[in-house]
Amino acid sequence: MNTITMHTRNTTYQIGIMEHGFLLHLYYGPRTEGSMDCLLSYYDRGFSGNPYEVRERREISMDYLPQEYSCFGNGDFRSPAFQMRDENGVFGVDLRCKSRKRYEGKYVIQGLPAVYAAKEEAYTEEVLLEDKASGVEVTLRYGVLPELDVITRSVEVRNNGSRKVFLNKVCSASMDFLTGDFDLLHFYGRHTMERNVERIPVVHGNQGFGSRRGTSSHQHNPFVILADRETTEDHGSCWGMSLLYSGNFWCETEKDQYDQTRLQIGILPEMFDYPLAPGEVFLSPEAVMAYTEQGLSALSHIYHELIRRHVCRGRFRDVRRPVLINNWEATYFTFTGEQILNIAEQASELGVEMFVLDDGWFGKRDNDDSGLGDWVVNEKKIGMTLGELSEKIHGMGMQFGLWIEPEMVNEDSELYRLHPDWAFVIPGRKPIMGRNQLTLDFSRREVVDYIFEKISGILEKARIEYIKMDMNRSINDVYTAAEGFQNYGEIMHRYVLGVYDFLERLTQRFPGLLIEGCSGGGGRFDAGMLYYTPQIWCSDDTDAIERIHIQHGTSFGYPISAVGSHVSAVPNHQTGRTVSLNTRAAVAMAGSFGYELDLNTLSEEEKEEVKRQIEAYKENWEIIHEGLYYRLTDPSKDPDAAAWSFVSRDGSEMFLNIVSMDVHSNAPVPYVRCRGLMPDRLYKVKETGRIYSGGALMSVGFPVPVSMGEYNAWQYHFQLCK
Ligand code: DGJ
Repeated sequence: MNTITMHTRNTTYQIGIMEHGFLLHLYYGPRTEGSMDCLLSYYDRGFSGNPYEVRERREISMDYLPQEYSCFGNGDFRSPAFQMRDENGVFGVDLRCKSRKRYEGKYVIQGLPAVYAAKEEAYTEEVLLEDKASGVEVTLRYGVLPELDVITRSVEVRNNGSRKVFLNKVCSASMDFLTGDFDLLHFYGRHTMERNVERIPVVHGNQGFGSRRGTSSHQHNPFVILADRETTEDHGSCWGMSLLYSGNFWCETEKDQYDQTRLQIGILPEMFDYPLAPGEVFLSPEAVMAYTEQGLSALSHIYHELIRRHVCRGRFRDVRRPVLINNWEATYFTFTGEQILNIAEQASELGVEMFVLDDGWFGKRDNDDSGLGDWVVNEKKIGMTLGELSEKIHGMGMQFGLWIEPEMVNEDSELYRLHPDWAFVIPGRKPIMGRNQLTLDFSRREVVDYIFEKISGILEKARIEYIKMDMNRSINDVYTAAEGFQNYGEIMHRYVLGVYDFLERLTQRFPGLLIEGCSGGGGRFDAGMLYYTPQIWCSDDTDAIERIHIQHGTSFGYPISAVGSHVSAVPNHQTGRTVSLNTRAAVAMAGSFGYELDLNTLSEEEKEEVKRQIEAYKENWEIIHEGLYYRLTDPSKDPDAAAWSFVSRDGSEMFLNIVSMDVHSNAPVPYVRCRGLMPDRLYKVKETGRIYSGGALMSVGFPVPVSMGEYNAWQYHFQLCK
C-alpha cells in the first residue's frame, strides 16, 4: 500500500492509498517510522458491502476499514465525513484518490480564518479525491507545523461535473481509530457559565454536540479532546480537535460494531444543503489537530502556543494589552458624558490605561429595545461629540475604546424602518425575538458594506484604539431576501463568511485597532474569532468564583491571553456574592486584565490596592501571557482550594495563584501540587522568603495557608535559587 506520512517533532500521521484509490487512515500517534498498513486486518464481515471492483474479495469493505475521509455511498455506514446529493435528491458519492502533492509553507483559505506560518515553519500535503460519476473533486489539505506538533486540515470541494450538486456534510476533519477505549472531553455551558468540562466515556453508537444557534455558542464549544481512559493532566495519550469556525458546528464520536472509534468535526450538517453549480468551489473551515502522550496540560500548551503565535494576528499579538476599564456594569445604559469622564478620571489616577465606552452611546439607545443599527453618536446623551470625549480621555493619559454590535438591528431603529428586508425574518411568520433584536443578513454584501462604512466613519472621526464587538442573540428565522440563494442550506454559512469579511476589513483598514470579541460574554469563543480578535470577553459572569470554573474550562483549548477578564463590583451583579478585591483581581489576572465598575465607589484603601494590582499585573504580564499555564486543581472536584500557575518556559520561575473555596473548622491542610518545576532545584518565594524544593512542591505540594472565611486569594512568586 502506498502511504503518505506526515511527521511532526513528536508525532506521526499516516494515510494509506489502497488499490483502486481508496484512502485509508492508518495512524496518528507518537512519532514512528515505516508503513502502518501492518496494523490492518481483513475479514469478510457480514452486511458490510464490497466495492464493485473488488466484489470477489469480500474482506474489503469501507464499512470497517479505517477511512481518511469517509463518504456516504461507498459502503461505509458509519457517520460520514462527506455527504452530497444531486438535484433529484439522490445521495451517493464514491471518493477515490487521484493524486497527491506536497509543498513548502502552509496553505491559506480564502475568506476563512486559518493557522498561518512562515514558509520554513510548515508544509502542506494535498490529496485530491474524485467522484467519477458526478465529476466532483475533493481536495484534502493538511498543514503540518512540525515544531508545534500540529496538523491542520481543510477541505475544498470543486464541482467539475456538468450538473449541480448539494453538499450536505463536509467535515473539516475526521479520524478513525482502529482500537482503544476513549473518553471525550467537551466543554458545555450556558449564558454566564460557559465551557464547563465534561469527561464522558465514548460508547457504542453516536455521541455528538454542536450549535445550531448561528454562533459557536455558550452551550457547546468547537474544541474537543479524545483521551485514553487513564490520561491525566500529566500523562497519557490525547488528541485535540479545534475548529476555526464561529457558526453552526457539529462534533461527533462513533464507536462502531468492531469497537473502532471515529471522531469528526465540521459545519453542522443539519439543514446544511450547500448548492454547488458546475465550476463552483466550497471551502471548509479549518480544523486543528494535535496529539501528545504527555497528558492534557501538554495538549493545552500546544493549543496555547498555536493560537498565540499562529492564529492571533496584529500589533497586539505579542505586546501587553492595555489595562482597561469598561463602564457596562458601572452604568449599564444610563450615563451622561460627565459621569463617563468621572469614571475615567478616577481610573486614570489609579493607573488604568484605557477607557471603554460600552453599549448606549449611539442612536436611541437607553435600553435594549431600540437603536441597534443606527450607528450615529448620540451627542445629546453624552453632551459632546465622540471626538471630544475621546480627546478628554486621552488628555487623562488613557486610550479610548468603543462597544459595537454590528450584526444586529432593533425594529425600533431608522435602519430597520429603511431596510426591513435586511433582517432575518421569514415572510409570513413572526420572528423569534432575542433581546428584542433581529439579526442582520450578513450573507448579503450590501448589508456588510453599509454597516462597515458606518462603523468605519465613527472610527475615523475619533481617536479610538479598541473595539468590543458584541453579538447578543441566537439566530432564528434565517431567510435572505437576496435573489438567487437557496436560503438556510447555504445562508448560515454565508452569514459567518460575512462576519469574517467585516472583521477582515476592519483589521485591514484599522491595523492598530485592538478588537475584543464578545457574544453575551463567551457565546462566540472559538479559534476562528481569535484570528480577528486576539481576546474575547470570556463571560458575562464576572463573579470571581464562577469565573474560576469558566476560566478553568476555557484554558483547555485557549491561551490565557485570549481571555478578557475584569474586576467588578460587589455584591456581584450576576450572583450577589461578595469576595475581596484581592481575590477578584487574582482571578481577573488570569486573562487580559481590566476593571468593570466605578472606581470612585471604592475606599481610599481599596484605591491604593487597585494601584498595586495594576502594577502587579504589568510586572507579571510576561509570565502570565507567555509562560506555561498549569491547572493545578479541578474546581468542580476539589472543594477546598482552586489553584493555577504560570511557569516560565525554562522552569526557573513560577507565579502560583490559590483561592480558598470551602472552609471548615480545624480542617486538614490542603496541598496544591505544583507542576513544570525542576525537581532537583530549590525555589525561593519572593513574598515570604521561604525556600522550597521543586521536587517536593511537585510530589507533596504547597500547603495552602489556613485562613478564616472562604474565597481568600494568594499569589506567590517562586524563583530558582542560584
Ligand atoms: C453583552 C456583553 O457581554 C456585555 O459585556 C455588554 O457589553 C452588553 N452586551 C451590552 O449590551
